[in-house]
Amino acid sequence: MGHPLLVQRSQPVLEFQSEEMDNLIADMFDTMAALDGAGLAAPQIGVPRRVVIFGLQSNPRYPEVEPIPITVLVNPTLEFTSADMESGWEGCLSVPGMRGKVDRYRRIRYTGFDQYGQAIDREAEGFHARVVQHECDHLDGILYPMRISDMRDFGYEDVLFPALATAD
Ligand code: NI
Repeated sequence: MGHPLLVQRSQPVLEFQSEEMDNLIADMFDTMAALDGAGLAAPQIGVPRRVVIFGLQSNPRYPEVEPIPITVLVNPTLEFTSADMESGWEGCLSVPGMRGKVDRYRRIRYTGFDQYGQAIDREAEGFHARVVQHECDHLDGILYPMRISDMRDFGYEDVLFPALATAD
């Protein structure tokens, strides 16, 4: 947080199946795995392109959530399929050690392409919908702390959730 790329709008991908794209996706998955994240956006590793990855099998950072398919999503569009909002805790690999409570739409439809140019069109809810909204926000230069409505719900992970910290 603080790097200018993280508060800029990223540019659409124009070319699929390039070596550049393959390298970007590989770097993003390496970074996400090394930091135990549920998602990552290209600008977080210094590339201002509209590419996000996400997915969750079992993750010690998110012990109580349903699995999310491992996904590469390029040039995404989001549609909110219900007006229902849900408040939940988020973290971000660009804001290490912190968590904050953010309101997100409960149900969404997202579309876009995988890294080979194949269309993706899915509906999601709950934590899956939250992760996609969080990652797509990165492409518009929005970090989750900008969406916290009550700043008392923002703090250090190990202070907010001491039980989780000791369970590690
Ligand atoms: Ni993030």
